[in-house]
Amino acid sequence: METYELRCATDPAWVDVAKSDFDRFLIDHAACERKASALAMSMVQHYPDKPELVQGMIDLALEELAHFREVMKLMIKRGLRQFNDEKDPYINALLTHVRRGHAEYLLDRLLVFSIVERRGHERFYLIGQALEDEKLKDFYVRLANAEHRHYTLFMRLAHRYFDNEVVSQRLDELLDIEAEIIRSLPLRAAVH
Ligand SMILES: [Fe+2]
Ligand SMILES: [Fe+2]
Repeated sequence: METYELRCATDPAWVDVAKSDFDRFLIDHAACERKASALAMSMVQHYPDKPELVQGMIDLALEELAHFREVMKLMIKRGLRQFNDEKDPYINALLTHVRRGHAEYLLDRLLVFSIVERRGHERFYLIGQALEDEKLKDFYVRLANAEHRHYTLFMRLAHRYFDNEVVSQRLDELLDIEAEIIRSLPLRAAVH
């Protein structure tokens, strides 16, 4: 199955936190897009023997880079600059659950990246709904739709290379882990 639900909904208070320091949120958001593009390119380099993955990840890298360009444009308009990269506590916590071993490493990365995109879909939609500026609202709803495509892309790839049973069992474990991470992290003016 390519679609699934997250197991812990984002606390509605997150939207207020993000809106209360929207400049900071934008700076973090830009970094997320840039890192998503770089990650997709690292997958391209890592799996030269998997043409569907390579094609999917090149398309994804380009799209995330285009998002980065758009967010950066918004930042420059507001006179904002990139910070030194802060570690993203959510991503870091998730990545500690990626197993070693060639096959496990691929499966876990595909599923973790899918879940991150799935969370992005949820949160960009929430922030899009809450913003007053029509252009910004449309921008975030458009990004939420892109995240939906991205999360299913990672699921399609997982199913391309692994049996259904293996995929659903590991997805089940990782969704519980992700829900626990979301519950444990403080709310920040950031995507995560
Ligand atoms: Fe993106
Ligand atoms: Fe994405």
